[in-house]
Amino acid sequence: MSYNLLKGKKGIIFGALNDKSIAWKVAERAHEEGAEFVLTNAPIALRMGTINELAEKCNAQVIAADATSLEDLENLISQTMEIMGGKIDFILHSIGMSPNVRKGYKYDELKYEMYHKTLDISAFSLHKVLSVARRMDAVNDWGSVVALSYVAAQRTFFGYNDMADAKAILESIARSFGYIYGRDKKIRVNTISQSPTPTTAGSGVKGFDKLIDYSERMSPLGNATAEECADYCITLFSDLTRKVTMQNLFHDGGFSSMGMSLRAIQQYEKSFEECPPIPDEE
Ligand SMILES: NC(=O)c1ccc[n+]([C@@H]2O[C@H](COP(=O)([O-])OP(=O)(O)OC[C@H]3O[C@@H](n4cnc5c(N)ncnc54)[C@H](O)[C@@H]3O)[C@@H](O)[C@H]2O)c1
Repeated sequence: MSYNLLKGKKGIIFGALNDKSIAWKVAERAHEEGAEFVLTNAPIALRMGTINELAEKCNAQVIAADATSLEDLENLISQTMEIMGGKIDFILHSIGMSPNVRKGYKYDELKYEMYHKTLDISAFSLHKVLSVARRMDAVNDWGSVVALSYVAAQRTFFGYNDMADAKAILESIARSFGYIYGRDKKIRVNTISQSPTPTTAGSGVKGFDKLIDYSERMSPLGNATAEECADYCITLFSDLTRKVTMQNLFHDGGFSSMGMSLRAIQQYEKSFEECPPIPDEE
């Protein structure tokens, strides 16, 4: 159902790789709600993904930008302002990647060059986007910036590896920049801490299928889907949330407030019947 919540609003959506991507669902919903936007992704993702299909559907232009490159971001923002005929109202940062996770290096034996890359792509890029947008005065007063996070920023999850550190930094950047951007331009900056979601980035996490099952059993409302995450993003881009800023907003069916649930206990009990010795962590 459409409510015209973003009628007349303009924006940039980072991170739609394919139709599983959270950013893809946000773009579809934003289009339904009347927004106009530019889609962007890293050059390699434009070659490998299916973003043009989405662009056609949403009547959006696609501009390549590596979110770690200030030059690319400057070009993206100036081109966007040209296309839109002025400033924009919202930005979705839906970017994450860890070369250490990809290559299977464990947290206690990280490759530091890769660790730096994880932080640059998954966290510092939010600072860069905000910094360039502010310098170029690209966002209207009362605009809204949303980045996607995960509860591993607060708690330790086996297999989430250096992405946990990236998410902790990402959430901190949202607070620190949210203060400055809010004070000067009334622009809000928030992170949404989303349930595990079966996407390309999500499925790269070790033991992801078990994590998603565990989290489903632990959450009173069940895991939040990518579509539901998109709905939440729309509310944050809309004028209905103008005083929400510098927050990490859990969108996880209640998971982050749970300790143990009946459904998890019932599953755990089954394992007592034939419980093998607990192996060392891999
Ligand atoms: N899937 C989950 O379980 C889950 C849970 C919580 C939060 N998140 C977060 O949601 C966001 C979106 O991920 P997703 O799950 O939709 O997966 P996805 O793989 O569809 O999206 C990740 C995107 O990051 C982009 N990206 C990587 N390096 C980039 C770079 N240098 N410059 C620009 N873009 C780059 C990729 O091209 C891709 O489009 C990420 O921040 C992710 O950490 C995902």
